[in-house]
This record gives sequence, structure tokens and C-alpha cells, in this order.
Amino acid sequence: MPLVTSTDMFKKAYEGGYAIGAFNVNNMEIIQGIVEAANQEKAPLILQVSAGARKYANPTYLRKMVEAAVIESDIPICLHLDHGDSFELCKDSIDGGFTSVMIDASHHSFNENIKITKEVVKYAHDKGVVVEAELGRLAGIEDAVNVAEKDAAYTDPDQVEEFVSKTGVDSLAIAIGTSHGAYKFKPGTKPQLRFDILEEVAKRIPGFPIVLHGASSVPQQFVEKINKYGGQMPNAIGIPEEMLRQAATMAVCKINIDSDLRMACTAAVREHFALNPSHFDPRQYLGDARTAIREIVRHKLINVLGCAGKA
Ligand code: G3H
Ligand code: 13P
Ligand code: ZN
Repeated sequence: MPLVTSTDMFKKAYEGGYAIGAFNVNNMEIIQGIVEAANQEKAPLILQVSAGARKYANPTYLRKMVEAAVIESDIPICLHLDHGDSFELCKDSIDGGFTSVMIDASHHSFNENIKITKEVVKYAHDKGVVVEAELGRLAGIEDAVNVAEKDAAYTDPDQVEEFVSKTGVDSLAIAIGTSHGAYKFKPGTKPQLRFDILEEVAKRIPGFPIVLHGASSVPQQFVEKINKYGGQMPNAIGIPEEMLRQAATMAVCKINIDSDLRMACTAAVREHFALNPSHFDPRQYLGDARTAIREIVRHKLINVLGCAGKA
């Protein structure tokens, strides 16, 4: 089966009350770990590439490795551009064979966001590619995605109908209190998401697929393992898994996870060297990283997203 768009995945996910996992990829072991998990669990899959990933690995390398994953798989796989910040970047990805792009113009004014998104939608739809856009702004600091807490803003449900109808976009990322990175809520605070906003958005645009970014849960066992073997990660709180499960039963059809995979990978590599200080063959420690990524993704597919067995 060739690369697919997310259209059919989202339709089934909305009706079935589950969500598709969208996992960020930066190298071969990450791709293989995720794809192995999805094949084992028979789950539809979105692999996404950020601007930072393009810069690190070269988009052609990533696309060719994802094409290899498609050949080796019997599940539907969608290749998505994560946080495209310009028409040019989206166009380049569409021309390069991606089946889905995100235009993230959420840092612009409402009208400018509509204008840029509409332009991307026109180009993408002419080529059979689907488009995700964002309304509202998530906090969080990563490589190329960087929003200070004071600049974050919840999505305004009053804006979604106009935005969706004027842009013709296929899915919409909203801000309900999730954030990018491994430090989402301060230790000692109680994580909270604005499910009231999600509910209101779903009422305004019934049946329309909603996307949740910044959805890593920051598993405590990874923080502990990283720190046990010489790391210095501050204690952090992510999005509780039961909240993600709840969102998946509502209008949320795509849940983005990156930081948890990074932590799984780092914990495995640190443990590997602590237990095998004489090792120097990358296949040994990257092999452990790949296995750790596979296992955390399997856990997400089965216990968080509910999409195992839905391919
Ligand atoms: O939301 C952003 C993704 O986690 C990608 O992060 O820009 O560091 O590649 P990155
Ligand atoms: P996390 O940093 O919570 O994994 O979010 C990833 C993301 O939203 C990618 O777009
Ligand atoms: Zn994101």
C-alpha cells in the first residue's frame, strides 16, 4: 500500500472514538521503532517531520526511509510535515511526496492565519495532499518550535467555524492547555486541560477532526532512569494518559507525541552505557534505543490512543 493521506484514518477515528498517533521522526532507528510497533499492533500511523528534523537528517533521507517503511509494512502510513511555518516549506514538502502538511500560521493575526492557510490548502488539495492548521498557541520550547508561556493562548471556539469554512482546511490543531517539550506543568501543580473548549469546538464544527499537539506524558520511569544513569532532568509533569484517552473519545483524531520518544531513547542509551561501559558499536546502543521506542509506542497505541487493531 502506498503512502496515504489521513482522511480515511480521521473519519474512522472520529466515528470509533479513538485517535491516530502522530510520532516525530529524525533518524532510521526512530522510524523503525515506531513502524515496528504500529505493525505489531496493526495500527494506522502518521509519521511526522519537523523543520528541525529536515535540517538534521535531510528531508530526502527521511522520505526515502519512510518509503522503505511503507514497503516493509501492511498498515496505512501517512507522511506529514509538522509545524510548517511558511507556504514555501509546505510546498517543498508537498512537491517532495508528503501526503499531509501542517501550516502553522498561529503566530500571525486571525486574518493573516486564514490567508496563509488558504493558500497552502489550494496548493495541497490540487495535488491530493491534506492540510492541518492551528488556531490558538501552545507554549513550549523545542528546536524550531518555540513559544514562551506568556505568548500562549487558548483557542477561541468563536473563531473555529469561520476559520474552517474560509480556509477549507482538513483538520485543526487547538490549544487547550497542552504544551510542547518535557516540562508541561510545574511539579506540585495539578495538570489541567480545558475540555470545555474542546467540547465547544466540537459543537461548532461537528464531525471535524481536531488535533492535539504537545501530548507527551513524560513517564516518570524515563526521568528516573535518565537520572539514575548520570542525567540531570528536572522533575516534570506531562499530560496524564487518562486525559489523552478522554480527548481521543471526543473530537480529537490525531495526537502528537515526540518528547516521550526522545526520553525513551535517551534512557535506553544511558542505561546501555552504564551497564556496558566497554561498548563502542552504535548498533548495540542504538538497537536498545530502537527497542525502547517500539515499546513506548506500543503502549501509546494500545493504552492511550485506542488505535491498536484499527489498521
Ligand atoms: O512540536 C515540535 C516537535 O516536537 C518537533 O520538535 O522542532 O525539536 O524537531 P523539533
Ligand atoms: P510533545 O513535545 O509533547 O511530544 O509534543 C510533540 C508535538 O506536538 C509535535 O508537533
Ligand atoms: Zn506540535
